[in-house]
Amino acid sequence: MQIRLERPEDATTIHALTDTAFKGMPFSDETEAEVIDALRAAGALTLSLVATEGGEILGHVAFSPVTINGEAGDWYGLGPVSVWPDHQRRGIGQALIREGLRQLQLMSAGGCVLLGAPAYYRRFGFESDPHLYNVGAPPGAFQRLTLNGSRPSGEVSFHRAFDGP
Ligand SMILES: CC(C)(COP(=O)(O)OP(=O)(O)OC[C@H]1O[C@@H](n2cnc3c(N)ncnc32)[C@H](O)[C@@H]1OP(=O)(O)O)[C@@H](O)C(=O)NCCC(=O)NCCS
Repeated sequence: MQIRLERPEDATTIHALTDTAFKGMPFSDETEAEVIDALRAAGALTLSLVATEGGEILGHVAFSPVTINGEAGDWYGLGPVSVWPDHQRRGIGQALIREGLRQLQLMSAGGCVLLGAPAYYRRFGFESDPHLYNVGAPPGAFQRLTLNGSRPSGEVSFHRAFDGP
């Protein structure tokens, strides 16, 4: 398996992959694929990585800038992240996330936040911080990982692409 940055010709596959992976998930509003397209259109896909095997895309992860107390900085949001259902549980998601976090660190990012299942994301070091929150997030779902030791506090907002059209 290889991990590389997305290329323009990958957009359609990433859209289909994301739609398929999130379909029917209880926590999903099934707009994740549109969110990725909107991030790309807004120039806000800080990192968009695909995992490939034999040239075929098996998984994808997106990272985009977030604001803290309304201010842009060096923190990023992870997601959406998707692996085709028949390729899940082979470590592809973990490999994509670890590579994305490594690249954020190379960019001197302060940290990363996400909404997701703590049982999955704690293995990367993500944890809840009572001082850093996202309005409307289900309890425990909003987590952060500091990459440079900083511990900002306040309200995190994801890119407006996550709010829908
Ligand atoms: C979440 C997702 C990206 C993980 O990718 P993956 O390649 O299947 O995951 P990995 O193989 O790297 O890791 C598998 C491990 O994660 C665990 N896992 C996967 N999803 C989980 C979840 N929601 N909660 C807890 N654990 C989860 C598996 O049990 C497995 O654990 P184990 O290694 O202890 O057996 C993938 O399952 C997916 O596309 N899911 C549908 C879309 C989605 O939910 N995206 C994330 C929303 S926050």
